Amino acid sequence: MTTLITHIQQLVAVRDSYHLLRGNEMQSLPLLEDAFLLVEDGIIAQYGKMYELELKVPVLPAHIIDATGQFVLPTWCDSHTHLVFAQSREGEFIDKIKGLSYADIAARGGGILNSAEKLAAATEEELFESGMVRLQEMMRLGTGAVEIKSGYGLSLEGELKMLRVIKKIKAAAPIPVKASFLGAHTYPAAYKESHAAYISLLVDELLPVIAKEQLADYIDVFCESGFFSPAEMETICLAAGQYGLLPKLHVNQLNSIGGLQKAIQLNALSVDHLETMTPVDIQDLAASNTIGTLLPTAAFFLRMNYQPARQMIDAGAAIALATDYNPGSSPSGNMNFVLSLSCIQLKMLPEEAINAATINAAYAMELQDELGSISIGKKANLIFTKPMPSLAYLPYAFGANLIDKVMINGIILA
Ligand code: NIG
Ligand code: FE
Repeated sequence: MTTLITHIQQLVAVRDSYHLLRGNEMQSLPLLEDAFLLVEDGIIAQYGKMYELELKVPVLPAHIIDATGQFVLPTWCDSHTHLVFAQSREGEFIDKIKGLSYADIAARGGGILNSAEKLAAATEEELFESGMVRLQEMMRLGTGAVEIKSGYGLSLEGELKMLRVIKKIKAAAPIPVKASFLGAHTYPAAYKESHAAYISLLVDELLPVIAKEQLADYIDVFCESGFFSPAEMETICLAAGQYGLLPKLHVNQLNSIGGLQKAIQLNALSVDHLETMTPVDIQDLAASNTIGTLLPTAAFFLRMNYQPARQMIDAGAAIALATDYNPGSSPSGNMNFVLSLSCIQLKMLPEEAINAATINAAYAMELQDELGSISIGKKANLIFTKPMPSLAYLPYAFGANLIDKVMINGIILA
């Protein structure tokens, strides 16, 4: 099918060519005013200013969408989620209101272990159904690609169950889905004192099956005091590397323990969280090829200090944004709120935030040739906003639903 979108007030993130944006470059967000966009078979086929329409599209298709007063953007890429889980955890949310910390809750068997217990009792069908519902809700909020982690299985059967569910979601979803193996999310109770045995389960038993069944694109480890050390993360990542899995890693959320430096040394595609960054950490990230993925809603929900985005960008780092959608630290898959928080609390400029949630986030899940900008040949996954006074209004008017409609593969979502 061919669709022509006309009279777009601003066509945002128009890029004839593209690269990962770092430092000052993140401020540059090219756009066309009074523009058109042509979609053929789900792919961006042409775009330009309205006065160029006759020249660039000599024969108009039958299907035309008038976008007068609307901004059109590439959909968000959410490169870090844990959206497959069995149950929400609002009981812990109340415990936190009453004064317990995330670490207190984890120490008494709550947190990730609570989710693991619930996951063990759920069937693949139940996990698939609830995961698809969350994914569809995210699509309606403007997300056009998503990464999903395992990590609530924490056993041979549990991790394989989660990864198989993610594989089914991948096959069923109309948007690209990437899978990360996060068996190293926490030590299950039975392995609390025998780390080597659990790492051997991950490396010697799980990885070969994951590789054989092609269940993961990436390896992830929660590198944190009381969870996995940088050395343990290295062992796991090197083993996963034998099967071609690139690292995307949880580091520097609660403590700075050298996880960031180890991740960079391991050529990680991204280092995610980064709430706790020393000046040296910021310099090391900026000097590396690794993308820093910030998860501001996790800091918001856990009442932690926000990621020092300003310092990281000013130092020259490449920054992406994601939701971290999970039942414990970020029970929301809403990238629009991530965008607002990153401007309000992390002091990112609207242009930087939009770039971080589109082109850089596409790079953070190796989808830069399919998504992340308005470029000929990329997927027509688009956000149409409601009429707004300016693009900055999008993060400014936090909590408002400014999305009029979402197009996925050239089709407007019902
Ligand atoms: O990214 N920090 C580790 N993992 C998740 C939280 C998982 C949970 O609490 O269930 C995160 O914040
Ligand atoms: Fe996470």
